[in-house]
Amino acid sequence: MDKVVVFDTTLRDGEQSAGAALNIDEKLEIARQLEKLRVDVIEAGFPIASPGDFEAVRAIAAQVRGPVICGLAHAQAQAVDAAWDAVKDAAHPRIHIFLSSSEIHLFHQLRKSREEILRTSRDMVARAKGYLEDVEFSPMDASRTEPAYLYQILEAVIEAGATTVNIPDTVGYAAPGEFGALIEGIFKNVPNIRKAVVSVHCHNDLGLAVANSLTAIQAGARQVECTVNGIGERAGNAALEEIVMALRTRKDFYGPTTGVNTREIYKTSRLVSDLIGFAVQPNKAIVGSNAFRHESGIHQDGVLKASITYEIMDPKDVGLAGSALVLGKLSGRHAFKVRLEELGYTFSDEELNRSFLAFKQLADKKKVITDRDLEALVAEEMRTASQTYQLDHVQVSCGDHSMPTATVRLIGPEGEILADAALGTGPVDAIYKAINRLVGVPNQLTEFSVKSVTEGIDAIGEVTIRIESEGRAYTGRGAATDIIVASAKAYMNALNRLLAVRGPEPERKPKRKAG
Ligand code: KIV
Ligand code: ZN
Repeated sequence: MDKVVVFDTTLRDGEQSAGAALNIDEKLEIARQLEKLRVDVIEAGFPIASPGDFEAVRAIAAQVRGPVICGLAHAQAQAVDAAWDAVKDAAHPRIHIFLSSSEIHLFHQLRKSREEILRTSRDMVARAKGYLEDVEFSPMDASRTEPAYLYQILEAVIEAGATTVNIPDTVGYAAPGEFGALIEGIFKNVPNIRKAVVSVHCHNDLGLAVANSLTAIQAGARQVECTVNGIGERAGNAALEEIVMALRTRKDFYGPTTGVNTREIYKTSRLVSDLIGFAVQPNKAIVGSNAFRHESGIHQDGVLKASITYEIMDPKDVGLAGSALVLGKLSGRHAFKVRLEELGYTFSDEELNRSFLAFKQLADKKKVITDRDLEALVAEEMRTASQTYQLDHVQVSCGDHSMPTATVRLIGPEGEILADAALGTGPVDAIYKAINRLVGVPNQLTEFSVKSVTEGIDAIGEVTIRIESEGRAYTGRGAATDIIVASAKAYMNALNRLLAVRGPEPERKPKRKAG
């Protein structure tokens, strides 16, 4: 069967997005979900980049046994060795080496000659080949590389043992026809090309990443590198869900298929969005909240008569429930559990108890609980379960003639109760100042946005914020029917991420113990 290898780089290129930072447990959770999604390859990280990246790749290699687990390395001996150390326990390990090949990068960045680049590429592939069979090579900025030189590099690395050669459109510059022609040119001009799988890796700076990837598949590429929700460096990478569903829905046109279990797409999308902290835009193809919603009367009429009139995919095929079952305060634990299972969530008894309690509290405030409410509730539970500092209580006093004042109580790393109060320019500012007095980690709030998860005055509000500390950005999200509480939760989420990356502040101000 003609199959396209799906190479997921959510945990590497996706995590490279500004503001995205995942801890090891979160990476493992995503990797396990990618295994359920049945991607062929997981690029789990860039082991030489940091000890955290190394440990995450190692943990994924040891625990996620289905897909190929790949570690990225730049073309230096130490990086290749670190990639091998990180992936060597995988059931199916791969090392992915990259080195720039365009004149622009060679002249302005690397200041190396073409001969040096050619030699290093060959040597590093040979070094990796000494460790394992499955070696991938990427000439970075390939789409802006002179084709004749690109052919030479590809021939040399295949000769040295590369089993996959990846053609990155690193800066999202290529146009579909042009990129397709580049792939065709590679097949015609690289004599040993049939000894390797040709892969593509497209960025989305001009919004063409998916179009370029699909055109490359038409030209013979049989691996696509992509990310869930299209996240990644700058404007992101080609979106996995869009490529997979395009190949499936238009098999008549494209031909090859993938091994992806499309029914896991929606759940994977939400998991990545919740853990990375990037909301999915409502009109996003395949996974946006409007992707299967029909608003106009004519469209609704058509869909009711025959869904084929305005729907080219069955929502069930991407893992949406399809029907809108309504839960409310009279619903029991069983209905709650069944609905969550239909949405693709499985919980331990303890997690279920906690989520059900949160559901009942929500049902007291909100008459009808929709699937989006449930997803927001579950995401909130998942976010808070593993936090170092937990928000226990928040109370504000504000108004047009009073000084905004906040009282905050947190549960600290050792279960200690911490409480403080602060004045601010507004209620959110007052809360953040009170939390800062307790946690004592200097940072700057750079973004704050609030949106409602569903319609209506009793809707859940979701707050997304970004804070910066020591040149690094951290995103936080929080959801609650009260947007002031949601703001406090979002701040705790961002601070906890910061602490997970940086470790606790050694010289924190002494904390005030409550009571
Ligand atoms: O965009 C790019 O060129 C990359 C390489 C490391 C493959 O991410
Ligand atoms: Zn990239």
